[in-house]
Amino acid sequence: MTTTEQGITDDGSPFGADATDNLWLHFSRMGSYRSAPPPVIVRGEGANIYDDKGKRYLDGLAGLFVVQAGHGRRVLAQAAAEQAEKLAYFPIWSYAHPAAIELSHRLAAAAPPGLNRVFFTTGGGEAVETAWKAAKQYFKLTGKPMKTKVISRAVAYHGTTQGALSITSVPAMKAAFEPLVPGTFRVPNTNIYRTPVFGDDPKAFGRWCADQIEQQIIFEGPDTVAAVFLEPVQNAGGCFPPPPGYFDRVREICDQYDVLLVSDEVICAFGRLGTTFGCQKFGYVPDMITCAKGMTSGYSPIGAMIASDKVMEPFLQGTTTFPHGYTFGGHPVSAAVGLANLDLMEEEGLNQHVLENEGTFRRTLEKLLDLPIVGDVRGDGYFYAIELVKDQATKEQFDAAERERLLRGFLSPAIFEAGLYCRSDDRGDPVIQLAPPLTCGPAEFDEMEQILRSVLTDALAKF
Ligand SMILES: Cc1ncc(COP(=O)(O)O)c(C=O)c1O
Repeated sequence: MTTTEQGITDDGSPFGADATDNLWLHFSRMGSYRSAPPPVIVRGEGANIYDDKGKRYLDGLAGLFVVQAGHGRRVLAQAAAEQAEKLAYFPIWSYAHPAAIELSHRLAAAAPPGLNRVFFTTGGGEAVETAWKAAKQYFKLTGKPMKTKVISRAVAYHGTTQGALSITSVPAMKAAFEPLVPGTFRVPNTNIYRTPVFGDDPKAFGRWCADQIEQQIIFEGPDTVAAVFLEPVQNAGGCFPPPPGYFDRVREICDQYDVLLVSDEVICAFGRLGTTFGCQKFGYVPDMITCAKGMTSGYSPIGAMIASDKVMEPFLQGTTTFPHGYTFGGHPVSAAVGLANLDLMEEEGLNQHVLENEGTFRRTLEKLLDLPIVGDVRGDGYFYAIELVKDQATKEQFDAAERERLLRGFLSPAIFEAGLYCRSDDRGDPVIQLAPPLTCGPAEFDEMEQILRSVLTDALAKF
């Protein structure tokens, strides 16, 4: 790297190409950064982020579905500093500390009835891993040792650790690491836009989707299936909400076959859908919840698996131990920030704010349906996807080479250049995803729509 006297590199950035001399970026094509260094974000304020050249972008993804309360919230930074001064670190391995105790009370009080036991992790994948291990041990302890398998949905993402990756259904993310943990099976997701059956009848579609879970349990043998992992609104593939009646029927099936229902709410908890937990938006009670991201609005990392009294019961007997944990699980600083974040969300009524504004968010994004490249706008709360199609009338899809050119070659950089940080994703069909901080309202929705309209109009001319 060559730097000028002001510390600015040849390409105009204070960091330039050296950003990736030593830093290994996640899910990134590292070979591509020598010629084009990655954006370097140095600061955030409210719903805006700023790069190292001082340019402003609207944060249309809350970082990565994380920054619920917005950037630059002093009260959260202060909570971290105060806790670090008092007790920066202590494990929760056979000891406890006040922040973890208090946060466990708060989460149990906010969760649906019966979900009272909080196992802290440092993130979402670890929470998923924890839920699967707890499910396996639960059945060993209750006399059904063969129940170990997991069912999840097509295209769903549940994390990158080897257990969570096994539950994940994105083959391209798994290929390099096969063989993974055996014993996971897939059912269709709730993509009503592309379903071959019941596309015009959401209730019948919901029933059919749920019944596929029953079929899979029967095919595998009910005595071998431990758990079903489902997100309230599935992220990968592009924000698939549950059809009406879906979760009622899933709950019934899980009860019938003694299979644990795990609600993976790593994205959908903490107000993303306008409720503290995503399952509350759709009125179902799972046996376990996995959550992370928004718990601290990202001011410090933490995750959790919240278990029902039923799941916990055998772990309370005699000398039984769950031989599982993480050095940084329930970290005091993160737990203290989690408490401050829950206070802030309550004080500012962020759940209510999302419920009051989600309709406006949807209607604003639906304006884009007048562009022939926009096939579908779907989601819930502040969690939306816009699916891109070659032909709106026939729903014709882009092929792999076209997706590569459209998303990576054009849309991602063009949207960012135009001042909007969001996600374009082709783990399923190509989608643009939006999940802004929960503090956002109509002004930010309009800005997103205008930027997307302009860039998608350019895309129409090119593709
Ligand atoms: C539904 C779901 N589960 C699990 C994870 C993994 O979480 P983490 O990246 O914190 O390990 C994610 C991450 O996006 C997710 O969306």
